[in-house]
Amino acid sequence: MQKLKERIVNEGRVIGTGILKVDSFLNHQIDPQFTMEMGRELASRFAGEGITKVLTVEASGIAVATAAGLALGVPVVFAKKGRASTQDAGVYSARVYSFTRREAVDISVSGRFLGPDDTVLIVDDFLAHGEALRGLVEIVRQAGSRLAGAGIVIEKVFQGGREKLKGQGVRIESLAAIREMSEDRIVFL
Ligand code: G4P
Repeated sequence: MQKLKERIVNEGRVIGTGILKVDSFLNHQIDPQFTMEMGRELASRFAGEGITKVLTVEASGIAVATAAGLALGVPVVFAKKGRASTQDAGVYSARVYSFTRREAVDISVSGRFLGPDDTVLIVDDFLAHGEALRGLVEIVRQAGSRLAGAGIVIEKVFQGGREKLKGQGVRIESLAAIREMSEDRIVFL
């Protein structure tokens, strides 16, 4: 998505070699109009898949997931972070390790909102090491839902998230894929 690439170049700030700050439209301040455009684009890539639910994880994925859900006309479920109440019947959960925050966190979804009749589109803001995506895929499997694929706003290809998910046959669509980046340049795939 050309406009996204331009905004990344014009507004993004690379921290070290691994983190891209895009706080002006994605991770702190949100540009509603642009978020809708990104959501529509992600939805259009999965048109005809019979999606019944969009699934993301709190917090930064929620806005673009909502935009995709609106475009598809389906509800949006966000996995909650924190201690999973695994004792509760019908809670799907997975442990994900955040490389950015250097800690493991449990993410969970109530069984009331995802089940065998659902076809799920996972949406998230970043695909980095693929931990969050792996956790969400695990939750979809636990729910017995069909997975249509994952729609990502910014993929940092060099951190290997796509590779991590390769064996599971997950279709991944990203709006901007970064091959390499440093403080003075960002190279897209
Ligand atoms: P992974 O899930 O793909 O393995 O990535 P990683 O562990 O590195 O990411 C953990 C958190 O950091 C995620 O947010 C992810 O969206 C975010 N993140 C990863 N790379 C970047 C980046 O380059 N820039 C920014 N701004 N965020 C990045 P989270 O912990 O779930 O937090 P939240 O912000 O969604 O609440």
